[in-house]
Amino acid sequence: MSGPKSIISFDDAKAKAKKRLPRMIFDFIEGSAGREIASNKNLEIFNDVYLRSKVLAPVDNPKLNSNFLNYSFNLPFGIAPMGMCNLAWPGADRNLAEAAKKFNLPHCVSTAASSSLEDLKIWGDEQTWFQLYVNGTTEDAWALVDRAETAGYKTLVLTVDVPVVSRRVRDLRNGFVVPFKIGFKQLIDFALHPHWSLKTIVNGIPEPKNFRVGSQNSFDRNASRAGANWEFLHDLRKKWKGNLIVKGVMDQVDAKRIQNIGIDAIWVSNHGGRQLDGSPPALLALPKIRNSIGPNMPLIFDSGVRSGEDIVKALALGANFVMLGRPIMMALAASSGKGLSDYLSLLKEEIEVVMAQLGLADLNKISTDVLFDDFSVKSQGEFNTENKL
Ligand SMILES: Cc1cc2nc3c(=O)[nH]c(=O)nc-3n(C[C@H](O)[C@H](O)[C@H](O)COP(=O)(O)O)c2cc1C
Repeated sequence: MSGPKSIISFDDAKAKAKKRLPRMIFDFIEGSAGREIASNKNLEIFNDVYLRSKVLAPVDNPKLNSNFLNYSFNLPFGIAPMGMCNLAWPGADRNLAEAAKKFNLPHCVSTAASSSLEDLKIWGDEQTWFQLYVNGTTEDAWALVDRAETAGYKTLVLTVDVPVVSRRVRDLRNGFVVPFKIGFKQLIDFALHPHWSLKTIVNGIPEPKNFRVGSQNSFDRNASRAGANWEFLHDLRKKWKGNLIVKGVMDQVDAKRIQNIGIDAIWVSNHGGRQLDGSPPALLALPKIRNSIGPNMPLIFDSGVRSGEDIVKALALGANFVMLGRPIMMALAASSGKGLSDYLSLLKEEIEVVMAQLGLADLNKISTDVLFDDFSVKSQGEFNTENKL
């Protein structure tokens, strides 16, 4: 997609999304747990990490490719799993899958996706991953695992930080439920955003498509997800022969235990602050976890990443790969497929610009050396990112 850029920064995408979306939908995307302290801190912490510029060290054709697990991605970042993406804009799910294919980056499909996991795999191809919630009974979860295998998924992500869905005050205030219940308040909200509302009505109100609505195993967003326990993880490791990643890890003792089970990668995340408001910023947990699992265990990071510079900081602090949640939804809501494409391109450009400032030719060689003062040592104790991959 060419033409003038529809988005030139994350703030741009967010401002446009806010205009186009009904308040209830914008709040579902942006909102988080409790008083939203954790989600704000996830963002603020990036401001405390300073990078060390190197002069007289020009960089030609910086290398951004990433060999992660058994993939060869063009970029060191990808799309985190999010439920109900078609709420951002009709067709968002397909836009995500196709953009991931075009940019050759991973797209993690949520259990609560608004298109079926089978369709998303067809639209996306090899770099499409499936994220599992043990929502309801474990039998339902095993059925989803079987479906993912049959559909040809090679990478499964088990999310473990949602034993219950937290209290999200904005959703409670706005009456956001899945499937929608539309009362007077919601009608006014939709009427004030006619472009989104008409498009959404014409294309069909989004619903969780991996479940049959109204049937016994219909998706209940508030159902307990406590079936995801250590025993389940052991069983899953035995059953799933492809890559298995555990998402939502914030504690170094948990990380070590997960590593010992033979999991292929650990995903450090506090769910973007959407679960535990008292959680530390995820970036603080990252070097601690890198320390505890050693330099060779593949590590993904998300929560609070908004720019290419943030991605570089997370890689310097021990991540091998970085994922983004809300910014992706904001870009889609701002200007659908073109917005997404423009946002992914700008992240790449931002990384290249930062690499030039740092005199860094190859992102695979990044280490704490690019940090101005050793943030990791100051706040977490020493760690070493060399030979992470
Ligand atoms: C609207 C929305 C829906 C989400 N749904 C899921 C989900 O279904 N499964 C999951 O593992 N994480 C889900 N997440 C969490 C993201 O995968 C990711 O961890 C988080 O958004 C990262 O933080 P960020 O938004 O600051 O980038 C969701 C996040 C958002 C914003």
